[in-house]
Amino acid sequence: MENYHEKLEEDYLFPRFEKAGKLVDLVKVLLAQHHAGRGLTTQILALSSKALNLEEKGRLRVRLRNFCRMSRPHKAREDTVLFTAFHKIVSANEFDALGERFEDKEEKIFGEGGFDKIVDEVAVIEKGLGVFDLSQFTPKGQV
Ligand SMILES: [Fe+2]
Repeated sequence: MENYHEKLEEDYLFPRFEKAGKLVDLVKVLLAQHHAGRGLTTQILALSSKALNLEEKGRLRVRLRNFCRMSRPHKAREDTVLFTAFHKIVSANEFDALGERFEDKEEKIFGEGGFDKIVDEVAVIEKGLGVFDLSQFTPKGQV
């Protein structure tokens, strides 16, 4: 995702906001978080590739928690503020052209089946980890 979704934002969205002088401070934070996320991912993958001692498990847990802690508000802010504002700084034609370009990149990166194939692969991982069933996250007896 870092080389797809985030790269698209960095290559096609962020520069347009900077050029338009809109949400520049937000874009700086989002970009810094992309860099931080890549650093965390590198560390998480390194820690995940071997048997871990107790101290290493703790380091992995902290990095996973930090990634989730950063990513949730990051994605929420993009969805509610950045992507909404994007419609206002590009024309409808440019927006449609970007959509087609993104689909081409998706197929180039992920191959035939594109994003849907990746979603299916993630579902297999989620089932393996026991987090696929969304209903398990619904609070029980507290509403
Ligand atoms: Fe992002």
